[in-house]
Amino acid sequence: MVSAAYIIAGLFFIMSLAGLSNQETAKKGNYFGMIGMTIALIATIFSIEHDSTSITYILVAVLIGAFIGILLARKVDMTEMPELIAALHSFVGLAAVFVGYNSFITLLSDTSFFGTMLTIHLVEIYLGIFIGAITFTGSVVAFGKLHGKIRSNPLILPFKDALNVVLLIVSLILMIFFIVEEGAQSGFIYLGVMTAIALFLGWHMVMAIGGADMPVVISFLNSLSGWAAAASGFMLSNDLLIITGALVGSSGAILSYIMCQGMNRNFFSVITGGFGNEGASGATEEMGEYKQINPEDVAEMLKQSDSVIITPGYGMAVAQAQYPIAEITKKLRDKGINVRFGIHPVAGRLPGHMNVLLAEAKVPYDIVLDMEEINDDFPETDTVLVIGANDTVNPAAIENPTGPIGGMPVLEVWKAKNVIIMKRSMSTGYAGVQNPLFFKENAYMCFGDAKETSEAILNAL
Ligand code: TAP
Repeated sequence: MVSAAYIIAGLFFIMSLAGLSNQETAKKGNYFGMIGMTIALIATIFSIEHDSTSITYILVAVLIGAFIGILLARKVDMTEMPELIAALHSFVGLAAVFVGYNSFITLLSDTSFFGTMLTIHLVEIYLGIFIGAITFTGSVVAFGKLHGKIRSNPLILPFKDALNVVLLIVSLILMIFFIVEEGAQSGFIYLGVMTAIALFLGWHMVMAIGGADMPVVISFLNSLSGWAAAASGFMLSNDLLIITGALVGSSGAILSYIMCQGMNRNFFSVITGGFGNEGASGATEEMGEYKQINPEDVAEMLKQSDSVIITPGYGMAVAQAQYPIAEITKKLRDKGINVRFGIHPVAGRLPGHMNVLLAEAKVPYDIVLDMEEINDDFPETDTVLVIGANDTVNPAAIENPTGPIGGMPVLEVWKAKNVIIMKRSMSTGYAGVQNPLFFKENAYMCFGDAKETSEAILNAL
């Protein structure tokens, strides 16, 4: 029964991932995930050896956990989602460490493991704790950086790469000593030293990564948390945990790859860190004169246009401007104007951030296009509305290939006839670099909170 339940739950998880890969089926994907997890929880709770008291403890713990989860999910803003994800990853990491130590303590009085099986079990314990500890401190630092509690500039310790390599080699040697001890109590010493090293490695690795690379770090930690869960699955001989961990681990790895492509970054150079150090250096640079425009003139310009592209960014999420934007879109489309959205893969603060907000405001899916689908259309576009986006429309990525965001593919909005930039000031975006777009001949700054400005444009329309 339990094996069957696990296979069914595993299938639901796969269907959930498949559903989540498309906006139209995402809601269904979430439901599949919930059903799969409910089956998994029920099967797991009732499959373990228990008496009625222990089941009461588990159920009370599940209820408390569910209560905290619902409370958090209702309270958290869309913009704080990456922080929440980072915090949740740290729990998975910590859980893997606990499961690892618990498995070792159990092993001390368990004589059923010997020979090759014992070696395999020891390796599972060691790797589970190692990956879990890296995930734990890495996620805590990622949470701090995204929450603004830790500086987002990379921390560059002297010989940082050599330090990481030495610590990895030491951890490997400790693993050999640990295995040679064959599960004796003295193994604790090796586990303890390795845990301290892994905790340091997680902290150091994410501290060394600059602000602009944080999206990749989040998906990388997502992947690590999956492998930590899979390692726990091996330790506990729980097939479903292995399957689920592998699904999370590999989908996180694929997401990291997609994000690296979106930012034209090499995965290993992201993970080894140091990038984005010079981030804020261009922030105060004078780049010439910029022109201002008021919402009424923006409305007039939109009315005169045949084609309009809207490129939203993090500011739209902060201002919650998607609703008036959706109404502007509808009004313009009713006038026969071709309106489309251009979405950069790392716009906002989490993958798919803009798509979620636009879907929430009921913007039709078929006019929301990915960067590569729309980038060639800017030269034939009359007006581009840049709403709270900055790094993702920064021509410096192309014009200054050695700069902090050099080489990152961007939405080439400056190729349109007119570009309106809606933001509150001349300040920089997430990567901390000044944006030459604001000073281009065809660019107009429309200052103010994105929601208020959009509402003013809507009224004028
Ligand atoms: P950003 O470059 O972060 O720029 C957002 C702009 O929005 C800011 O310059 C800000 O200017 C403006 N803004 C903030 N609040 C606003 C409001 N209430 N009304 C109007 N404007 C407002 O945005 P982006 O173009 O979306 O780029 C995303 C950046 O975040 C990239 O560097 C990316 O690497 C990084 N990142 C992405 C992710 C994922 S997965 N998407 C995760 C973490 C980090 P003012 O202050 O002048 O208003």
